[in-house]
Amino acid sequence: MDKNKIIIFDTTLRDGEQSPGASMNTEEKIQIALQLERLGVDVMEAGFAAASPGDFDAINQIAKQVESIKVASLSRALERDIKAAADAIAPAKNRRIHTFIATSPIHMEHKLKMKPDEVIKRAVEAVQYAKSFVDDVEFSCEDAGRSDISFLKEICDAVVNAGAKTLNLPDTVGFRLPYEIADMVRIMSEYIGDRAIISVHNHNDLGLAVANTLASIKAGARQVECTINGLGERAGNAALEEIVMAIKTRSDEFSGLYTDIVTKEIYATSRLVASITGIEPQPNKAIVGKNAFAHESGIHQDGVLKCAQTYEIIKAEDIGAEKNALVLGKHSGRHAFKDKLVNLGFDLNDEEVNEAFSKFKLLCDKKKEIFDDDIRALVSDEIIKIPEIYTIETLSTSSCNSGHSSAAISIKFNGEIISDAALGNGTADAIFKVIDRISKVAGELKDYKVSAVSQGKDALAKVTVKVAFGSSEPPFIGHGLDIDTMMASAKAYVSALNSYLSMKK
Ligand code: KIV
Ligand code: ZN
Repeated sequence: MDKNKIIIFDTTLRDGEQSPGASMNTEEKIQIALQLERLGVDVMEAGFAAASPGDFDAINQIAKQVESIKVASLSRALERDIKAAADAIAPAKNRRIHTFIATSPIHMEHKLKMKPDEVIKRAVEAVQYAKSFVDDVEFSCEDAGRSDISFLKEICDAVVNAGAKTLNLPDTVGFRLPYEIADMVRIMSEYIGDRAIISVHNHNDLGLAVANTLASIKAGARQVECTINGLGERAGNAALEEIVMAIKTRSDEFSGLYTDIVTKEIYATSRLVASITGIEPQPNKAIVGKNAFAHESGIHQDGVLKCAQTYEIIKAEDIGAEKNALVLGKHSGRHAFKDKLVNLGFDLNDEEVNEAFSKFKLLCDKKKEIFDDDIRALVSDEIIKIPEIYTIETLSTSSCNSGHSSAAISIKFNGEIISDAALGNGTADAIFKVIDRISKVAGELKDYKVSAVSQGKDALAKVTVKVAFGSSEPPFIGHGLDIDTMMASAKAYVSALNSYLSMKK
């Protein structure tokens, strides 16, 4: 084990998915998993296999499709969870079972209703059982941040003797300050020595997740658990991109320490996760926010023009966020388009390139200037393959500020065109009503977001909807991309409907 290497354990697909409203379907998770592999994360927590058949299936599909990245599944310290985790990750070349139990007095007494020695016994049995499936077992002391250090030593000793190779010390409720977390990590690293890797998993309830993670690294942690864009339960987890860029940019402080992250893939990964979950990072978010490299004040602009380092500590290119350059146009050929895709980090097969190229050409007819972000959106939309059960042929709408708006739509289903029209309270409402009527499936709109993909009056509109169908839980996500916001809304709604119908099948 190289003592200078910081192992990046990404939990976007597990803790990240626990962000309210961030649920993803299997196809979407696979796309993120493949991108995480390009990004170079060491371990990917692909889900919580026992949580639902959907979670199990997503982990299993990911385990089949990724090449070398280690695939982990979370499991409580219960036989049935561990068995589900083992089965789900079985096809992966490299795999890990991550099992946990709470160790803080408040959790043991009120949640688990177990005595400390029962908790230790359960933890040891869980690790032993997990070891019967895989060699690489991680054990987490849930709520380590509020656990007694003497109990942490006792339980960690026991699980290491049972075979755990990584000991994770989560600050589950984001309560600790950097120097407190550093103390805990230092004590535990010295106590455990070379017997296991000390890992941290910090939540952001006090806005300190990244600071706590960096302080932990200085105190001896060699694995950090984090998510893209800082997604995660409540206020989220430590953001991968912030940790990685802090280690890189402040190599003076983290001397010799390194990660294997391909930083040029950070921006593409952030965009993919934002577009799939519909959760955009705030504009002033460090590293990946829209404004992270924008200089507004004249003094700053002047300084940057004279010498970029006057106000820039990171180059946009380092994370693959080249200035939103005007790229290709109507006259660009397939070859230039393919080159651009490679540049932006997409790895598509010929058929996918052809489909994306046709969409690009259609867009060129409608939009004067095509930016990198347009291409990213177009291709991300393209690679998430939702079976096209219903497809929109034509849409015409009229909006009215003193009465009902209307939508008339033609939709293809089973080779037939079905047309209908409806009135609504607003144009989007009319569109969703008419789609419900045609499909004979009533959807309940839970969330609707619209954003402009790039800039200009003719910017592409990206619409994300969350729709509950019948008693289905959780709602299905749909994305729609179009130059026309209402058409994008219709496409998004139909894509949520298609996801639901294909899942039902
Ligand atoms: O926050 C937490 O404690 C967790 C564990 C299950 C690792 O997510
Ligand atoms: Zn967590």
